[in-house]
Amino acid sequence: MNTAMRPDIQNPPVVIRTSDVSKRFILRKDKALKERIVNFGRSQKHRSDFWALRDVAFEITAGTSVGLVGANGSGKSTMLKIIGGIIQTDTGFVERRGRVAALLELGAGFHPDLTGRENVYLNGSILGLSQKQTAEYFDSIVEFSEIGEFIDTQVKFYSSGMYVRLAFAIAVHVDPDILLVDEVLAVGDEPFQAKCMNKIREFQRDGRTIVFVSHSAPQIEDLCDRVVVLSHGRIVYDGETEGGIAALRRTFKG
Ligand SMILES: Nc1ncnc2c1ncn2[C@@H]1O[C@H](COP(=O)(O)OP(=O)(O)OP(=O)(O)O)[C@@H](O)[C@H]1O
Ligand SMILES: [Mg+2]
Repeated sequence: MNTAMRPDIQNPPVVIRTSDVSKRFILRKDKALKERIVNFGRSQKHRSDFWALRDVAFEITAGTSVGLVGANGSGKSTMLKIIGGIIQTDTGFVERRGRVAALLELGAGFHPDLTGRENVYLNGSILGLSQKQTAEYFDSIVEFSEIGEFIDTQVKFYSSGMYVRLAFAIAVHVDPDILLVDEVLAVGDEPFQAKCMNKIREFQRDGRTIVFVSHSAPQIEDLCDRVVVLSHGRIVYDGETEGGIAALRRTFKG
């Protein structure tokens, strides 16, 4: 790393900036089949807009670990997918710097009919690695995942824990600058969760940036320097961790 590339510790750069991000989903209220056939092509009546995110704006500087929390349905996974570039915004935009590895909802990023091995190569190429680079990491990925000979099984036959093991192993091997983690670690068994937490701490020491979605307050307190609380798609708190957990609990009451 030359001097120009060395991170400025005093003044870390912004690596994620979301500017007034809103995301709308169209809800189709399911009417009886008969009614749908009768109204075929004519009725827009049972469509309604639903804003999963409204004017979400924040900046994350390099080397920070931010906990993104909120009640079920508050928009956390939607926000992570937008940061990861997996879905588009309806208004606003996201700027990112560096390579992003995302551990999103279960199975996202894997092709069910391909084997674990094929998915490692597929994910490697999506994340910008050459065949050769992925080949170099391959054994280490399989070793970290501990899924052994199942690496040559189609991932549709994997258990939830096996999915996450392989996905996490890939994510941490592609040398990401930004790691997005959506809850998924909860399905790993205790030893694997501990191994993942150690890896995440190592990432923090390396100065990488982490956005961590979790319903576990102790985990958030343990890992995060900052907490952003979403409620019905809006930010209701952005600040230090202890205050964030208290703000989160207030959203459950109101
Ligand atoms: N593809 C979609 N189509 C329609 N609605 C969607 C879609 N994806 C998400 N939503 C809705 O957007 C809202 C936010 O969902 P999201 O998955 O971001 O919540 P969350 O905060 O991650 O919740 P949880 O804690 O349960 O994981 C929910 O009401 C959900 O039903
Ligand atoms: Mg979610």
